[in-house]
Amino acid sequence: MSPFQLTRTLPEHATDAALRADVLQGLGRTPKMLPPKWFYDARGSDLFEEITRLPEYYPTRAEREILLARAPEIAAATGARTLIELGSGSSEKTRHLLDALPELESYVPVDVSESALTGAAEGLLAERPGLRIHALIADFTTGLTLPESPGPRLVAFLGGTVGNLLPAERAVFLSSVRALLAPGDALLLGTDLVKDESVLVRAYDDAAGVTAAFNKNVLSVVNRELGGDFDPADFDHVALWNRECERIEMRLRARRALNVKITDLDLLVRFEAGEEVRTEVSAKFRQDGVRAELADAGMALTHWWTDEAGRFALSLATAV
Ligand code: SAH
Ligand code: TRP
Repeated sequence: MSPFQLTRTLPEHATDAALRADVLQGLGRTPKMLPPKWFYDARGSDLFEEITRLPEYYPTRAEREILLARAPEIAAATGARTLIELGSGSSEKTRHLLDALPELESYVPVDVSESALTGAAEGLLAERPGLRIHALIADFTTGLTLPESPGPRLVAFLGGTVGNLLPAERAVFLSSVRALLAPGDALLLGTDLVKDESVLVRAYDDAAGVTAAFNKNVLSVVNRELGGDFDPADFDHVALWNRECERIEMRLRARRALNVKITDLDLLVRFEAGEEVRTEVSAKFRQDGVRAELADAGMALTHWWTDEAGRFALSLATAV
């Protein structure tokens, strides 16, 4: 059997229908919103990789630090033979985990971004000829069907991506992850932590404007896929800290009153000057909150590790 397999559980026309429905619904409501998974076309995935290298964007470096320090403990605690990674992107940090898991036979990266999956697999196949890689193009929020693979299985969800889900979505998502776990399996969860507002806002509004370009990329996706005529220059990138909900909120704010035509949807969308489209949230966590959300989904926190500076946490959890 080939050591690499790519399975598409999202038929291309289903992606298309989902995008149409999301845009129709999201731009028809008040306040307007666009769901975050549409950020990640090939250009969006490249821009996100650029974000991870920005001086202001600390989460990637902080999580890498924890992975490097704790990979042997993670290996000892899990004995994983299969690593399933949700929202794997470039799998860059995952290498530290792959290097440390002596029993590992199979790696299952799951992402909506086909370009990210194939790019990541190319590098890994060359460097780790013994590893079986079964990449899945799939939406992790809509019920995953995983390929047969040997246990124990470790499900990793890194990058603080869990914070991009709203609380109700998180509860559903964590329950679906719980359903994937057999006795002896584990979840490794990366969460960014509550910290000083100015540090947080800078991480999502960098000086070079890469995050702004990333945020506006969703408009280019709508233009290309649905025949929209958004001019990204008509919008400002906004990142603000919602103190009450303890999350960063990303928005696109119209610089003037304007109309946007979305031909494939037969839709004309009116924006008032200053009107915003909500594009993404990035929730920040505390240990108690993570423990409680895991418990609500039927999982118990067994390990909690942070970087030296206490900016980011990795949790290990098992099914109860
Ligand atoms: N894990 C990597 C990438 C994080 S960025 C890291 O820590 O650096 C978030 C990733 O999740 C992107 O690769 C994006 O394509 C993917 N993603 C976002 N929403 C998704 C969804 N609903 N289903 C599957 N993948 C998703
Ligand atoms: N998971 C990342 C995070 O919340 C995603 C992200 C980083 C992001 N920067 C962004 C999403 C800017 C939208 C806009 O940190």
